[in-house]
Amino acid sequence: MNRPRRNRRTPAIRSMVRETTLSPADFILPVFFHEDAEDTPIASMPGVTRWSLVSLVREAGEAHALGIPAIVLFPKIGEALKTPFAEECHNDAGLVPRAIRVLKAAHPTLCVITDVALDPYNSDGHDGIVQRDGRGELDVLNDETVAVLCEQALCHARAGADIVSPSDMMDGRVAAIREALDDAGFTKVSILSYTAKYASAFYGPFRGALDSAPKDGDKKTYQMDPANSREAIRETLLDEAEGADMLMVKPAGLYLDIIAKVRETTTLPVAAYQVSGEYLMLKSAAAGGWLDEKAIVLESLTAIKRAGADMILTYFAKQACRWL
Ligand code: PBG
Repeated sequence: MNRPRRNRRTPAIRSMVRETTLSPADFILPVFFHEDAEDTPIASMPGVTRWSLVSLVREAGEAHALGIPAIVLFPKIGEALKTPFAEECHNDAGLVPRAIRVLKAAHPTLCVITDVALDPYNSDGHDGIVQRDGRGELDVLNDETVAVLCEQALCHARAGADIVSPSDMMDGRVAAIREALDDAGFTKVSILSYTAKYASAFYGPFRGALDSAPKDGDKKTYQMDPANSREAIRETLLDEAEGADMLMVKPAGLYLDIIAKVRETTTLPVAAYQVSGEYLMLKSAAAGGWLDEKAIVLESLTAIKRAGADMILTYFAKQACRWL
């Protein structure tokens, strides 16, 4: 008789036949920071802190010492610096370029990834430049935005970023950023593209963390419809053709089918982003004493990897390393 349970009989046998294992090298830690000298706990994300620059360097060092190879930078920009054209996003003396310089000086082997999108800098809170027509209808301008994203990517490259990561979902931005980087001599700077980024309600806590929610309208004209999966393949083929080095699916846990499809479509590395709302759900269930935090977090991360993700962006990165 066929007895599949034989392969599950002891921990030793289970470890031999295990198909998916997690390691610290799988994780990328998203980090929030601001200009203030004080660290601020983020109310919408229990256990997550918005760091001062000094603390950010310490936090990055701790993550790297645990074996995490990379961090992604998410700045909170002061209201006074936000403008309709988001000029602050390519200020070489701005918060992100300064953070990149101190991080690379303190931790030369840490891979520093930057978010390329206008929302932290844009007075409208959108990832691109907003225009209103005569009737007050809101439009997010594509090509005008891409030109600014190129400036932003170049600014990050000048400061020493290893990877720039466009999260804006404008059309044609990967090709434009690649060309801008190459023309300026930054041929070694990689592009991690948010390829299939959905218009998800699970980004809510993140927008609270950075005060970056759209002032008006939503992001459905540029982020993808959660009902669609073929469109993710279309975006995959485009980003690959445009020269992306790595692709990303976001969110992760509710989009495992998309991760699997993107994995089958491309030979490029695939990342998945366990977003703020996923973090909050797991964290609250554990805080209520309803679910076992270590078990649910490691299971959720294993499922994301099993679906086909090579890299996982997760707010649990440090904790997961300690558990492993
Ligand atoms: C913005 C950006 C968002 C996230 C990463 N980059 C929010 C958004 O698109 O509105 C969300 C991350 C998370 O929820 O953890 N470009």
